[in-house]
Amino acid sequence: METLILPGNGPETPKTAADILKSGGLVAIPTETVYGLAANGLDPEAVAKIFIAKGRPQDNPLILHISEASEMERYCHSIPESAYRLAEAFWPGPLTMVLPARDCVPKCTTAGLPTVAIRCPDNHITRQIIACAGVPLAAPSANLSGKPSTTTAQHVLHDHDGRIEAIVDGGPCRVGVESTIVDLSDDTPRLLRPGGITPEQLAAVIGELVIDKAVSASVEKDAVVKAPGMKYRHYAPDCRVLIVDGDLLAAKAYVQKHWVPGNRVLCFEEELEAFAEFSPLAYGRSDDMDTLTAGLFAALRELDDPSIGTVFARCPKGSGKALAVQNRLEKAAGFCRINAREKSLVLGITGGTGCGKSTLLGVIEKLGGVVIDCDAVYHRLLLESKEMLSAIESRFPGVVIDGKLERKKLGNIVFSDRDALCDLNAITHKAVKAEVLGLLPTEPALIAIDAIGLFEGGLAEICDMTVAINAPENARIQRLTARDGISEAYATSRIRAQRSPEEFSSLCDVTLENNDTEAAFQKKCLAFLQGLDIIES
Ligand code: TXA
Ligand code: MG
Repeated sequence: METLILPGNGPETPKTAADILKSGGLVAIPTETVYGLAANGLDPEAVAKIFIAKGRPQDNPLILHISEASEMERYCHSIPESAYRLAEAFWPGPLTMVLPARDCVPKCTTAGLPTVAIRCPDNHITRQIIACAGVPLAAPSANLSGKPSTTTAQHVLHDHDGRIEAIVDGGPCRVGVESTIVDLSDDTPRLLRPGGITPEQLAAVIGELVIDKAVSASVEKDAVVKAPGMKYRHYAPDCRVLIVDGDLLAAKAYVQKHWVPGNRVLCFEEELEAFAEFSPLAYGRSDDMDTLTAGLFAALRELDDPSIGTVFARCPKGSGKALAVQNRLEKAAGFCRINAREKSLVLGITGGTGCGKSTLLGVIEKLGGVVIDCDAVYHRLLLESKEMLSAIESRFPGVVIDGKLERKKLGNIVFSDRDALCDLNAITHKAVKAEVLGLLPTEPALIAIDAIGLFEGGLAEICDMTVAINAPENARIQRLTARDGISEAYATSRIRAQRSPEEFSSLCDVTLENNDTEAAFQKKCLAFLQGLDIIES
């Protein structure tokens, strides 16, 4: 058969598509998540064609798409209050709810389950088609079974040209990963698949939410799972995918070590330059999850090429929408995932105010390293640590009132009495060090401990290398006056009250001189860090 391409904005499109669907044909439809391969969800024969076209296992049920939330009651029963609240909050939108199915929903749509997955997509054309057809549409993602999902009409055409009646071209999908699935058929709502609506958003509306373990773990083939689709290898291009975690320096060193021509790298846009020699393909920016969800499947499809050996893939960290990206990438990789950094590399960063420590720390953060700011830790402890405050109070009675430190009072004591200052430092250094040890990531990582008192506080002992940042005094004075709005004289006295640059240098393993522009210093920091990894590996 010839597959018709119907323009999304064509005035006849809803009716043409609806007619095909009503007569039992298949039409690929755009949604905000991915393209779906739709049939009349109440017609078992039409639904059977979806399974054949996709090569989909019969035990994997389909989602029923409706044009308005009010239609939910036609196909579901025993609908809990929470379902109405979720529909109100997120429909039309990328959320699918699993609810007890009415008898009018055929067994082949639900794969024989007593429940049905239902969703109202946020796509105007598709909702018009559903309304025009007057039936709900059963539609899985339009990809061939096991392959990355389809986010453009061209992707659908690639997989189904000549095998389905029509494709409605609604342009690229906005969200790019399939809907969030939440099961409301049991007492406790359960997240079955992460997507564009985050667990945090769901919990804000319905409270308690259990995350099914299949969301983040591999499931045995014959296991009983809540969403049958979760047990199949999914989204997988025709090559090996390996997720390479860890900071960019370690990841690059790993790829370099294991590189074979014909391999590829799937990374974030900001990493393209670092992976330039390794045939990189970017799918979005790590600081903008929407770009990653929108770009992931198109990238995986581009990598669906049997001539490619291994794809080394970079995966975002964190929760929220990142969870959806992690879940799809993990499935594409068959859960093959490694941390490129075998052992933590802990750098102690120190130097006087205004020297430019934050430039080095910024470079480390951008590379995916973890920065621990000891000054921030100290100030947080002053507010939160009952233990530290009670130690201060027992050495300096009267300085803690109602659980709050009277800083001026304490300052007056310690700045005129060296022994008192030593005692105070002993208390605070001990508390800060304990807190920093607790903050160290459990997984191997590139870690920077930022402390002006790196040595006095005993933190240098836990560092693999200590780095002093120095800068010419006039440049520091300029930076301080601009940054803190203080006079030159005050800035000078602040600088001179601290250790001299020579002292910092003599204490540290390495000194980085910040004696040029900020851009030049950034470059110097990056070169220094890159050099470290070469030494390490
Ligand atoms: O965004 C989406 O949800 C897209 C667009 C087209 O709407 N559809 C989609 O469908 O992703 P599909 O078939 O690729 O994924 C549906 C998932 C499968 O994992 C399936 O096992 C699960 O939903 N599912 C369907 N009915 C279910 C039910 N009654 N109980 C539990 N899981 C169900
Ligand atoms: Mg699918």
